[in-house]
Amino acid sequence: MSDPRGMRTAYCGELRAADVGREVTVCGWVDRRRTHGEHLAFLDVRDHTGIVQCVVDERIEARSEYVVRISGVVRARPEGTANPALATGEVEIGECIVDVLKRAEPIPIPLHGDVDENLRLRYRYLDLRRERMQHNLRIRARVTAAIREAMDAQGFVEIETPMLVASTPEGARDFVVPSRLHPGNFYALPQSPQLFKQLCMVGGLDRYYQIARCLRDEDLRADRQFEFMQLDAEAAFVGADEVIDFIGTAVGHTVEAVTGSPLGEVPIITWDEAMERYGTDKPDTRFGMELIDCTDLFAGTQARVFQVPCVKGITVAGGAEMGRNRIDELTATCKRWGAKGLAWFRVGEPGEAGAPALEGALTKFMSAGEQAALPERLGASTGDMIMLIADERPLANRVLGLLRLALGRPPVTEGGLAPLWVVDFPLFEDIDEAGNPRPAHHPFTMPNPDDLDYLVRGGGESLLKVRSQAYDLVINGWELGSGSVRIHDAAIQKQVFATLGIDDEEAERRFGFLLEAFAYGAPPHAGFAFGVDRLTALLAGEENIREVIAFPKTQSGADPLTGAPGPIEPGHLTELGLRLRPA
Ligand code: AMO
Repeated sequence: MSDPRGMRTAYCGELRAADVGREVTVCGWVDRRRTHGEHLAFLDVRDHTGIVQCVVDERIEARSEYVVRISGVVRARPEGTANPALATGEVEIGECIVDVLKRAEPIPIPLHGDVDENLRLRYRYLDLRRERMQHNLRIRARVTAAIREAMDAQGFVEIETPMLVASTPEGARDFVVPSRLHPGNFYALPQSPQLFKQLCMVGGLDRYYQIARCLRDEDLRADRQFEFMQLDAEAAFVGADEVIDFIGTAVGHTVEAVTGSPLGEVPIITWDEAMERYGTDKPDTRFGMELIDCTDLFAGTQARVFQVPCVKGITVAGGAEMGRNRIDELTATCKRWGAKGLAWFRVGEPGEAGAPALEGALTKFMSAGEQAALPERLGASTGDMIMLIADERPLANRVLGLLRLALGRPPVTEGGLAPLWVVDFPLFEDIDEAGNPRPAHHPFTMPNPDDLDYLVRGGGESLLKVRSQAYDLVINGWELGSGSVRIHDAAIQKQVFATLGIDDEEAERRFGFLLEAFAYGAPPHAGFAFGVDRLTALLAGEENIREVIAFPKTQSGADPLTGAPGPIEPGHLTELGLRLRPA
């Protein structure tokens, strides 16, 4: 059998003091060359495991990024020259025979330190040589392997679904592919395998999973790419509890496989509670600063700003020191988020009555009782800052939720992982300009049976009261994944389509195959999908999922390496039955 290490007998980064005396051959790239004196040079040689110092004849021509194969003897570095910053820092390779396997032009981007994002992606194959990318992509491989282990162990069957499909609505635009054989017709690339996995349930596969590539034409952000990977799963004869269980097991197993520590118990809260306590359906629970309801404290207030349906607040610990400029800046930001203003109070030393004195522009409109009750309700003490938003309840929650993040959110690499399940989502998120409700998850989500009445008889705002059987998994303020119990009954599905403004004819044209499948014995089923890129980024301590994707797109959706997207040949357009509109 051949040696799996091929041309080498050791990896650069694995050599330690215990290897002293060993004859080794390493292969890799010259990370750095330094002069040593006495006709010798140091070559730091790098492979995917790390860097080792080699002492070579100075006449050897081997510059940065040359590909080399070096044979020599591992020896201890001379007294006082060990490098504690390097895992191999106690040793070096001496008596070297250097074989230059490939010379390299000077590279256009440095491999250490900051580089412009576009340049990094333009030369991604060089950027991948960075330790950070090597580390992140290996974490990613561990993540996908662990997901498979967990899903296989739970009896899920890995099934591939097609990439050239009809539209699968998940709330984004489709990427479309023109058909040569059916001119004027287009495939959509899947926004998710949603409909196929439901068909697998009708097909009796019982437990399906796939690490699926999904494509969505939407604006890119730190946690969004056009192409991304989901762990996508579906199971028959189960409800929300079982899904929460098996997805929790898969995520828990993956986290433990990568970090070595268990994820621990994942709390479950309702959507209503999430909105009330954190002002968002994806709370970052690594820190407190919860939203506190103070509406009742102002029931009979003289202060006009507080004569509104809802007054809520947060405490900024130690925030009393905040200067006027910063407060004005935050007020302007809150106004941009839709609030009428931001009420703020510095919490001072206790006054005569024993309650800490408040200082702020609004105190003159407030009674002594209100001033005393406020810090008590918010658990604020001397040196803190209280910030209140007075408005309609949903707006107060949303703005305070954003303010809480702006003032309290720790950096990605701090605070560990704080997961939670958010359950009982509403079925509809809001009502669009055309008066149709927008699904909070997707149109295949089962309404809560207790709220079906609102669906049938309700209209307008009352539709927003319909709860769904949808649930999200949130970690550190990122929506990691979503799922729901599905509709498996054509009549309810048609009702939901109708409520969404999709009439029978359109429903038949777009989803007739699904409604038809439901007619032939569809089992009750439920499922979930979570973002593999997002989970990997969280585990790698990265803020942008680009850092855990080998070949991502830039913010503007381009690939500067291959030049995509680009024009196509006129002949190719003709073959596809397409003509470009003159610009
Ligand atoms: P949803 O649309 O919530 O649900 O997607 C599930 C998860 O996929 C990830 N994700 C993304 N990751 C990177 N870039 C994107 N553009 C992007 N869009 C989504 C997120 C998200 O939580 N079919 C349903 C699931 C189901 O009901 O079973 C679905 O796709 O982590």
